[in-house]
Amino acid sequence: MTSFPVQAAAQARVLVIGDIMLDRYWFGQVDRISPEAPVPVVRVARKEDRLGGAANVARNAAALGAQVSLVGVVGDDEAGGEIQRLVQQEGITSHILVDTAVPTTLKMRVLGRQQQLLRVDFEEHPDDGSVNGIVERARALAPQHDVIVLSDYSKGVLANVEQIIAVARDAGVPVLVDPKGQRYQRYRGATMLTPNRAEMRDAVGHWESEHDLEQRAQALRTQLELEALLVTRSEEGMSLYTQQGTERVMAHAHEVFDVSGAGDTVLATLAVMRAAGLSWNQAMDWANRAGGIVVGKLGTSVVTPEELS
Ligand SMILES: Nc1ncnc2c1ncn2[C@@H]1O[C@H](COP(=O)(O)OP(=O)(O)OP(=O)(O)O)[C@@H](O)[C@H]1O
Ligand SMILES: [Mg+2]
Repeated sequence: MTSFPVQAAAQARVLVIGDIMLDRYWFGQVDRISPEAPVPVVRVARKEDRLGGAANVARNAAALGAQVSLVGVVGDDEAGGEIQRLVQQEGITSHILVDTAVPTTLKMRVLGRQQQLLRVDFEEHPDDGSVNGIVERARALAPQHDVIVLSDYSKGVLANVEQIIAVARDAGVPVLVDPKGQRYQRYRGATMLTPNRAEMRDAVGHWESEHDLEQRAQALRTQLELEALLVTRSEEGMSLYTQQGTERVMAHAHEVFDVSGAGDTVLATLAVMRAAGLSWNQAMDWANRAGGIVVGKLGTSVVTPEELS
């Protein structure tokens, strides 16, 4: 394999739009049961915050050396401030909208005895004003970018995804989408879609064989007018469907520690490689390598050009 296109990646201007989240971890010790209720008491010893959702995609693109702008919504609260701080620390340009009516999407885990004891989620869909504001930011920023990435986690920021895809097309900028939900028609006209297996099943139903999957994938691709459809298949690797046919790569991982966020790394790598001018086939190879590396890491969920070279 050729070496990683470091120079071209550094030139890539990537606009990430989508559902931004904060992943918060509280690690502690459990020594007793609460006198108030039959639950463990966790004495917190360590805290960790990580960018999640669209912000994790942006972080991954930045780690590959690209110039990254991020659009999404946070609330006017502590978690929102923490996201802005982390985004700045990663060298990502923030165009994040603050919506005072909603809390920042926050997933809080409490861990003790080496296991997750509880997860607490804060999330609320932003209102129409914010959703329209997202489209306006996309319109203003699209012409200054080489690729647009839409990271949909069904939290409402991409409620008007059709309009954002139209904005990208008008600006002549390719748009890659990590989809969610049952209504795939809303992604019509995107350049590439990157569903995982479960998302692909939501889109096309159960497939009986590889041949069956290929037919369903190509039918979906045609119906949605996509240039490419890439199905990420966890330990089964990835399949790429284009007009030229089907390409399959096997998973690259040697050791698997932490698979969460692998999809974000894959999406970011595809976007940076596309912006760098590589073919979808080459982009998939790099994305698959990156996915294989990131699942072998605990904690940090990014891959660097050095690791890929
Ligand atoms: N168990 C695994 N073994 C090897 N490679 C893996 C494994 N899980 C993920 N990968 C790599 O990461 C890529 C993306 O993983 P996957 O298809 O699970 O995406 P995803 O479900 O969107 O991930 P997530 O939503 O957790 O970020 C795979 O195509 C593969 O390259
Ligand atoms: Mg995913």
